[in-house]
Amino acid sequence: MSISLLAAVFSALAFSTVTSAEPVQYCPIQDVCYQVAVPSGSADANGGNIYLQLRAPTSYSWVGFGTGEQMADSNIFVVYQDGAGNVTISPRTGTGHIMPRYNAIAQVELQEGSGIVDDVMIANVRCGNCGAWPGGSMSLASEAVDYIAAWKAGDAVGSTDLDAAIRYHDAHDQWRFDLTQGTITDDANPYVGVSQFDNNNRGVSEGSFADPRTLIYGHGIIMAVVMVLLYPIGSSLMPLFGKWLFHASWQFLAFLLMWAGFGLGFVASQRIKLDFNSTHTILGTVVVCLMVLQPVFGWLHHRNFLKNESRGLASYAHIWYGRALLIMGVVNGGLGLQLADAPRKFVIVYSVLAGVMFLVYVAASAYGEYRRRLATGGYERKR
Ligand code: HEM
Ligand code: HEM
Ligand SMILES: *[C@@H]1O[C@H](CO)[C@@H](O)[C@H](O)[C@H]1NC(C)=O
Repeated sequence: MSISLLAAVFSALAFSTVTSAEPVQYCPIQDVCYQVAVPSGSADANGGNIYLQLRAPTSYSWVGFGTGEQMADSNIFVVYQDGAGNVTISPRTGTGHIMPRYNAIAQVELQEGSGIVDDVMIANVRCGNCGAWPGGSMSLASEAVDYIAAWKAGDAVGSTDLDAAIRYHDAHDQWRFDLTQGTITDDANPYVGVSQFDNNNRGVSEGSFADPRTLIYGHGIIMAVVMVLLYPIGSSLMPLFGKWLFHASWQFLAFLLMWAGFGLGFVASQRIKLDFNSTHTILGTVVVCLMVLQPVFGWLHHRNFLKNESRGLASYAHIWYGRALLIMGVVNGGLGLQLADAPRKFVIVYSVLAGVMFLVYVAASAYGEYRRRLATGGYERKR
């Protein structure tokens, strides 16, 4: 019993020393990851083979990363589907804000384990001369090498052409790798036999910048809670209890939280320089801005109601404008999940909750109308 425990501890220790010699990894967004491994021989000689991995779901048209601080003079590697169940690794030279073209000098070769596995494109790459390229060079033993990355969601490129046309990125990012943390003992493909991939960042030397994924998660969760739970619950409170102050304070808190969520989304989009031109970002901005009028209509309705004891124009504006914005907000959350390529289970939970809350609200609202009818003797006094 205790001997087997000891054996387990020892093998865990041994295993942890083995796995500490693993590639460095950076994932700017969920499931899009880039790795670099430097064999100790190459680090010592400051030359020779290094091993790269690029990984992304097949919902991406292409993903790429490269050494350098910007596109110009960067040594770029782009991966896309080859149209035959494998991937194409395309080394390219960055020349500025235009499509990088094939770089025939880079000696890259796909390694075992590359391909499309469970809807994930994997390129395990050996590069024989990646310490220097047409626009610059790097030390293979450096603790801070500048890297850039970019990605594009959408249809597969589906080509073995190393100079295939790729479309302008959705977003991009920059970071630094500490290559000394990515040293491996053997000059051999370190990715072979690795079938499970994590999303952790390792060996990223610039430690102080916010992980864009944390911002995106925070944004998504806050916005979903506000649009799918808080606003509909707050809207149901009114017909259920008829206490305007309860409703108004609840909705106002949700309103503040919504702006916090919007702020996180905005910061995240700045962080990865997300192209603003997506339905989710545009519609989302429109909805949160239009929502500013909702408390105003609510207040106007309240003042009118105190005076006239009945609904007026502001009441119908508040009710129907609010309902329309809530529906747009919920739909926009769905678009956000799509943009983030969120896991199926998130999409299912989101849709089910949205459906349930819709029914809860419709029931509460119908109950409210029923009570109003009773109270007003079957008809409504309008002006
Ligand atoms: C069709 C191909 C491409 C076009 C037309 C293109 C165009 C542009 C443009 C116009 C900008 C400046 C505006 C912005 O920030 O979005 C930019 C920036 C950037 N792109 Fe690309 N790009 C392409 C491919 C790539 C690839 C393959 C990478 C992979 C590493 C990449 C990485 C970056 C990065 C990191 C920046 C910000 C740094 C800089 O300004 O150079 N791009 N790109
Ligand atoms: C962003 C914030 C808000 C949202 C999304 C919102 C949403 C709604 C919705 C959807 C209804 C219709 C409920 C039903 O079906 O009966 C409603 C009713 C109402 N709201 Fe708001 N509301 C907000 C803020 C406020 C504020 C700040 C006030 C008061 C100052 C207010 C006062 C009322 C009142 C009195 C009603 C009842 C109207 C009636 O039944 O004639 N609301 N609200
Ligand atoms: C993809 O190509 C590489 C290099 O030729 C090979 O090692 C790998 O096994 C291929 N993957 C599949 C799934 O065929």
